[in-house]
Amino acid sequence: MTSIAVQSLSFYYKKEAPILTDITLTFDQRTTAIIGQNGAGKTTLVKLLKGLLKPVSGDVLINDQNTRAVSVSKLAGHIGLVFQNPNDQIFKSKVMDEVMFGPLNVGQPKEEALTNSMNALQMVGMEDKKDDHPYDLSLSERKLISIASIVAMNTDIVIFDEPTIAQDHAGKEIIKRIIHDLQKKGKWVITIIHDMDFVAEAFERTIVLAKGKVLLDGATREIFLQKEVLVQAGLNLPHVTQLGYLIEKNKTFLTIDEFTEDSRF
Ligand SMILES: Nc1ncnc2c1ncn2[C@@H]1O[C@H](COP(=O)(O)OP(=O)(O)OP(=O)(O)O)[C@@H](O)[C@H]1O
Ligand SMILES: [Mg+2]
Repeated sequence: MTSIAVQSLSFYYKKEAPILTDITLTFDQRTTAIIGQNGAGKTTLVKLLKGLLKPVSGDVLINDQNTRAVSVSKLAGHIGLVFQNPNDQIFKSKVMDEVMFGPLNVGQPKEEALTNSMNALQMVGMEDKKDDHPYDLSLSERKLISIASIVAMNTDIVIFDEPTIAQDHAGKEIIKRIIHDLQKKGKWVITIIHDMDFVAEAFERTIVLAKGKVLLDGATREIFLQKEVLVQAGLNLPHVTQLGYLIEKNKTFLTIDEFTEDSRF
């Protein structure tokens, strides 16, 4: 059974600059967005979940395994992380080799790794690029390749760090569909994201990080009702939500469809 427990977690890189302070969180099957200003500690938090960093104090348990006690390679079979910058992730000279690396590395037999990799490439619409060199591709294509590499590993938990960076509308729609499809397959999807319109459209739960703490945590609609708190945390509201509040103070629209379906408009 999938589980993630963050218990009284504190972390710093340098003692004089605490990044996360006494955070307690659990996750569940809801698609979850983590938002917060630049430097709020979002990437640090997911690196702690993935076991790449260890808590200074407190614990992180992934499927009941404490990240302090389990090797990163063992955890990799349970939790996949798509890096913020694909250039930090991609290192092979052929797209297919890049996507196959993770599945093989977590012990999938070659045939299974091949099938999962082809499926993942199709999912991101890049199957015709399988023989290309990743560095001949654009940044947005490299980001999609790095997403495919992690999806192919078939982990219980999939974390995306800023998946929509460099994506146009079509790319964002692909990523939205991937998040939805992964959830339908029973995966837990956690996503760090700056794009508030995307948060409103794609995530059931939103966690706001600020000053090393969880400032807000709840259903996305409830979070975007807390306008003043969000503004204080340096965050914007989704465009359609802002428009809605101009018309009716206490009604939170999350998507353009919701807005246009409202009988008054
Ligand atoms: N390896 C490191 N060594 C020292 N400080 C670091 C390191 N990585 C990050 N930091 C600092 O820790 C703080 C939190 O960084 P982190 O990358 O977790 O933030 P973030 O919320 O992901 O920001 P962004 O939205 O810009 O990606 C920042 O002040 C950053 O400069
Ligand atoms: Mg970051």
